[in-house]
Amino acid sequence: MKHYNIVTIFPQMFDAPFKQGVISKAIEAGIVAVNAIDLRVYAEDKHRTTDDYQYGGGVGLVMKPEPIVRAVRAIRERSETHVVMLDPRGEKFTQRTAERLSGYESLTFICGRYEGVDERVRELVVDEAISLGDFILTGGEFAAMTMIDAVARLIPGVLGDDTSMDEESFSLTSAAGVANTLEYPHYTRPPEYEGLKVPELLLSGRHADIVKWRAAQALEQTRKYRPELLDATQLDDASRKEIYQATATPKGKELKLAVALMHYPMQDKQGTLVTTSITNMDLHDISRSAATYGAKRYFVVTPLQAQREIAQKVISHWTEGFGAGYNSNRKEAFTRTELCDSILYAMQECEKLWGEKPLLVATTARTERATVSAASLGKIAESRPVLLLFGTGWGFRKEVFDVVDYVLEPILGASDFNHLSVRSAVAILLDRLTQNIG
Ligand SMILES: C[S@@+](CC[C@H](N)C(=O)[O-])C[C@H]1O[C@@H](n2cnc3c(N)ncnc32)[C@H](O)[C@@H]1O
Repeated sequence: MKHYNIVTIFPQMFDAPFKQGVISKAIEAGIVAVNAIDLRVYAEDKHRTTDDYQYGGGVGLVMKPEPIVRAVRAIRERSETHVVMLDPRGEKFTQRTAERLSGYESLTFICGRYEGVDERVRELVVDEAISLGDFILTGGEFAAMTMIDAVARLIPGVLGDDTSMDEESFSLTSAAGVANTLEYPHYTRPPEYEGLKVPELLLSGRHADIVKWRAAQALEQTRKYRPELLDATQLDDASRKEIYQATATPKGKELKLAVALMHYPMQDKQGTLVTTSITNMDLHDISRSAATYGAKRYFVVTPLQAQREIAQKVISHWTEGFGAGYNSNRKEAFTRTELCDSILYAMQECEKLWGEKPLLVATTARTERATVSAASLGKIAESRPVLLLFGTGWGFRKEVFDVVDYVLEPILGASDFNHLSVRSAVAILLDRLTQNIG
């Protein structure tokens, strides 16, 4: 039998909560015992004083150390017990704490009141301090009741059906496929209520599909309401692996998006109009980013035919030549890459692909030019094609900003340095546009 002792000045408070429901049945069955101990019994003066004014001044009373220490020692004389101080400064109570505490044969909860408990109690008899959460209660009794309820229901035999715990929210052995998630939604009769229907699958009797649906729902609810539960830091290695595998599906959204890397009309350091050179790395890396984020086309724009010819050799090597057989991933990345002499050509290609003219969106490193956020542009690109223009050299000439439909907000890092390579900028902005942010 598990013993749960509570040291309190209000022992009667514990009569009602454990007289009904599942825990009361476990008490009747002799699986757990809840024993509220009147602290006043351990006060030695004739007024049974358990509190006093605090040293150092200030309003509010403090619970005296002697009665509490005596009460705990009296319990320990009878049997070993793990002593928990209910204290807002303690470790925050979670399902993990409940699981851990359920391993003790005997727990003793010390309930503070007023301003709290004389600090020396903690040093003398307390094993650990636990808080119910970041709020202040009038006394530890409410916290103790909650914790006893959460702990006792984990004891085998307390809940009728042991396996029902596996699927619950926060469980680490979740039958929903992933540990530490919220639970999937539940429905009961009637099948339709005030126009709202129970999901048809649940009425179908297709058990295997229902299990899959519930697993997906559990993950979805968790991502939506408590994404931090999926945070790796909260989990052990096995659960982390499980979650990683269950969530390792593409998370971005497919957009009507094409990218153009412009080598003209650019400016140099002095602001002079120039045509920049194509670089091998921009060909490879932006093709790979475009493929990863589902950008349908990557146009490399330069009016210089000689440059296009050299670059075409590189692309052909990977799409048709030796490279195609050597590395088929690279071939796949390059299938969307095309060299062209003007942005007009790129726009026409987009129009052919999506049946309407694309919105022209320039990118910049300068905040004052920006007219659209990544979140808004991501939304726009769900329904309208967007051709995203990236610059080279020292950036676009001013005229470009005057003719485009939008200028996308720049990437700002954690410092004043703002000189990303265009390859990095493409990857980061494609990530921002395709993720479900905003
Ligand atoms: C009014 S509170 C004292 C609050 C304290 N002066 C402070 O500011 O942290 C009285 C008692 O209620 C209990 N208590 C209050 N909030 C609690 C919480 N979030 N978790 C656990 N116990 C709590 C503790 O036993 C505490 O000693």
